[in-house]
Amino acid sequence: MGGLETPFASLLERYAAAEPLRLHMPGHGGAGIWGRENLDITDLPAIEGVFDWENALQKSQTLAAQAVGARDCLFSAGGSTLALQGAIWACVPFEGEVLCQRQVHKSIAQVLMLLHAKVRWFNPRSSLPEIGKACAVIVTAETYRGELLPLRELQDYCKRAGIPLITDNAHGAHLAFFQQGSRHPLAASCDLVVDSFHKTLPALTGASVIYAGSDCGKELLTRVKQGMQVFGSTSPNALILASIDRARACLQKQGEAVLEQTLEALTAFRTALGMQNTVQGRDPFRLVLRSLGKGKQLYSELAARNVVAEAYDEDEVICIPPYGSGKEFFDRLLKVLGQISLPLEEPWDLKEDTTPLPAEALPMFEALQGSWEEVPLHEAEGRVCAEFAGPYPPGVPVLMPGEQAGQAQLRRLRQTHLRCVK
Ligand SMILES: Cc1ncc(COP(=O)(O)O)c(C=O)c1O
Repeated sequence: MGGLETPFASLLERYAAAEPLRLHMPGHGGAGIWGRENLDITDLPAIEGVFDWENALQKSQTLAAQAVGARDCLFSAGGSTLALQGAIWACVPFEGEVLCQRQVHKSIAQVLMLLHAKVRWFNPRSSLPEIGKACAVIVTAETYRGELLPLRELQDYCKRAGIPLITDNAHGAHLAFFQQGSRHPLAASCDLVVDSFHKTLPALTGASVIYAGSDCGKELLTRVKQGMQVFGSTSPNALILASIDRARACLQKQGEAVLEQTLEALTAFRTALGMQNTVQGRDPFRLVLRSLGKGKQLYSELAARNVVAEAYDEDEVICIPPYGSGKEFFDRLLKVLGQISLPLEEPWDLKEDTTPLPAEALPMFEALQGSWEEVPLHEAEGRVCAEFAGPYPPGVPVLMPGEQAGQAQLRRLRQTHLRCVK
């Protein structure tokens, strides 16, 4: 099978194996106190035949794009946060107008704030607004609960207007390697798609990619790269980048089969618990355990039995089974759940946040940089938010800085573990 080479990871391995006398960063010199530093190499000037970071990285990025049918790809060692920053920088000029789904991760709101963007919040599941002067549309392709946004119509809408669609697919990186990527945003020809490899694939924390879809203009990714340089470190972590390379080769080799096996085991697990196995509009790999009003208790009871889930809210525990989880893994979980006497169901419903938009009292950056005090939720009505208010994870703010807390938003916040806002 072609494409299984890993140019960037191999570059690091060859360099480490040669055991050079290192007169460069990082300060651990390849043999630090942790014992795993030998592959942690900095971006050095190219040395012919020995070390050429840029060239190896470019080859690995091309292989990653080819693996999923994208036009191009960039690796990020700064997570999807950095990739989204780059994407937004590329598409939204200073003080430019943008159409953005309200339920987005705060990293998106933060970069829009820095660009002083004029944001028109919208709900992509209801009728699409006039494009007007918007220069880009930004949406979340997959929520924390595994809800998938239909993207085809949205992409056509952007294409007709001649503006790019940025899709935050941080939670759905694995979908590019499952059933020929039919559930992945690239299948809907989305222009810029951001995937966190580290969330669902075997890659190190911080490992993310941004793909340019097949119809995306060639120069756009050059601008994304510029944006990632503006916002990111000048010393990206080589190990994180190499882990993307390795994960991609591994997925390309056996990802489809491994994911099929995981899904089979997960289906058997759901069946054993009397849950449904419907997957319409959902990521079938995301496991959500619902126990009404008992989310925290369920999370704690699992943790007391050495099972640590991703997050919880009032009613639900979100589980992200690692890549490669099979029968043994789910049998262990089933056994533990058998020791917990709480009613459980798999909620396949779509949880739409219908909280109305709050009034905007101040520009976001003014509120965020201004003075603040912490206020209990029951005293916050009418106050202007100085911080992003909402549970983390998932990091989707209920109130943005500068917005006025109304009854509806405070009701929504009371359903989370938050008791105060700034
Ligand atoms: C929907 C969504 N987008 C973006 C991000 C940021 O991703 P990263 O942690 O890879 O920077 C997150 C993080 O949880 C997220 O949930």
